[in-house]
Amino acid sequence: MSHGNAETLTVPRAPSSMLVTGGAGFIGSSFIRTRLADPACTSRIVNLDLLTYAGNLENLAGHVEEPERAGRYSFVRGDIRDQALVERLLEQHKVDALVHFAAESHVDRSIHGPRDFIETNVLGTFAILEAVRARKAAGHDVHLHHVSTDEVFGSLGDTGFFVETTAYDPRSPYSASKAASDHLVRAYAHTYGLSTTLSNCSNNYGPFQFPEKLIPLMIANCLEGKPLPVYGDGQNVRDWLYVDDHAEAVWLVLTRGAPGTSWNVGGRNEKKNLDLLHELIEVVARHANKDAAALRALITFVKDRPGHDRRYAIDCGKIERLLGWTPRHDFGAGIEATVRWTFANRGWIDRVRSGAYREWLDTNYGKR
Ligand code: NAD
Ligand code: DAU
Repeated sequence: MSHGNAETLTVPRAPSSMLVTGGAGFIGSSFIRTRLADPACTSRIVNLDLLTYAGNLENLAGHVEEPERAGRYSFVRGDIRDQALVERLLEQHKVDALVHFAAESHVDRSIHGPRDFIETNVLGTFAILEAVRARKAAGHDVHLHHVSTDEVFGSLGDTGFFVETTAYDPRSPYSASKAASDHLVRAYAHTYGLSTTLSNCSNNYGPFQFPEKLIPLMIANCLEGKPLPVYGDGQNVRDWLYVDDHAEAVWLVLTRGAPGTSWNVGGRNEKKNLDLLHELIEVVARHANKDAAALRALITFVKDRPGHDRRYAIDCGKIERLLGWTPRHDFGAGIEATVRWTFANRGWIDRVRSGAYREWLDTNYGKR
C-alpha cells in the first residue's frame, strides 16, 4: 500500500473481508446494500449487529439472499462490547478491514438515558480497538474505519463551517460519547500504530431510518394524522445528506484514505427545521393526495430539547477535492425518493412503530 500524498493512497486499499458493525441499522445497512450491489466491490462482508431497537434485518432483505451474494455475506447477532467475539470474528473471517457503524445514535434518548451511550459508543469502541490491537500483535493488520458525527464539533452561530481541524466541543451525552470514541480511535492509531480512518458526517435521511429521527417521524405522523412536534422555535439548522451518499463516502475513505486521516462529509444543504418541515409536507401531501394546509395544521411547537445545538454546517471540501466525492442526491431528489419509499413500505413503518417487529425478533432471536 503506498501513500499518494499525506492524505490519500495511490494504490487503493482493497479489503477482501470486511467486518461491518451495526450493519442492520439505518446507515450500516445502506453501506452493505450498496457494497453488495457494486460490481467493483468483491469484499466478503460479516455483519455484526446486536439488533437493538434500531437494528432490523428487514433493512437488508432482498439484498443478501441471492446465492452469489449470500456466499459473500453473513450475519452474526452479537455485541461489539464482547471483545472476545470481535477478535474471534476477525480471525475466523480473515478480516482485513473493520467498518464501525454500531452505536446508540439518537440524541433525545441520550438525554433521557445516557448510560447505554457510554456503554455502546465508548466501551464498545474500546472493545473494538482492543480486538484490532490484539490481531495486530498476532501479526494481522486490520484497518479500522470509524464512522462518526459532525455533532462532536459543537454548535455554530449564524456563520462558519466545521472543518476537519475544528476543535471538539460536544454538548450532548450522545455527541460526548461519539467524541470520546473518536479520541480513542486517534489515540490507538498514535500509540499502538493501528491503521485507522475517521469520518464525521452531518444529518442523514433516507429509506429505513428509524421513525424517531426528524424526517421519518414527521412523514409517519403526517400519514397517521398525528401532531408534528417542532422543538423550540424550529429555527435550528441542520445539514442534510441522503444516506446512500454517506455510504459511498465511507467506502471512498475506507479504500483511499491514508492511515490517520479524518474526513468531513456533508450535503451542502443547510435547512432550518421549520423550513424543512414545510418542504416535506408539500411532498407528502402530493404523494398522499392530501391537503398540505391540513398537514401544516398538525405542526405543534413543543418544549425545546435540553441543550439543543443551534446550527451544524459542514465544510466537505476536503473529501470533494481529494477523493472526488460529491453527493448524488440533492435535497429535492433525496426527499422525493424517501417519501416514495415510505409509501411503498408502509408495512415496515407499521411493524417498527407497533412493536410487531420486536415480537418477531424476540421469537426468532430470543429476548434481550
Ligand atoms: P442506527 O441507530 O440506525 O443503527 C445503529 C445500529 O447499531 C443498529 O443496527 C443497532 O442494532 C446496532 N448496535 C447498537 N448497539 C450495538 C452493540 N452494542 N453491538 C452491536 N450492534 C449494536 O444508527 P445510524 O443512524 O445508522 O448511525 C450509524 C453510525 O453513524 C453511528 O455511529 C452514528 O453515530 C453515525 N452517524 C449517524 C448519523 C445520522 O444522521 N443518523 C450522522 C452521522 C453519523
Ligand atoms: O448531525 C449528525 C447527527 O444527526 C447524527 O450524529 C445523529 O445520530 C442523528 O440522530 C442526527 O442528530 P439530530 O439531533 O440532529 O437529529 P434529529 O433527527 O433527532 O433532529 C433533527 C433536528 O430536528 C434537531 O434540531 C431536533 C429537531 N427535532 C427532532 C425531532 C425528533 C424536532 O424539532 N422535533 C422532533 O420530533
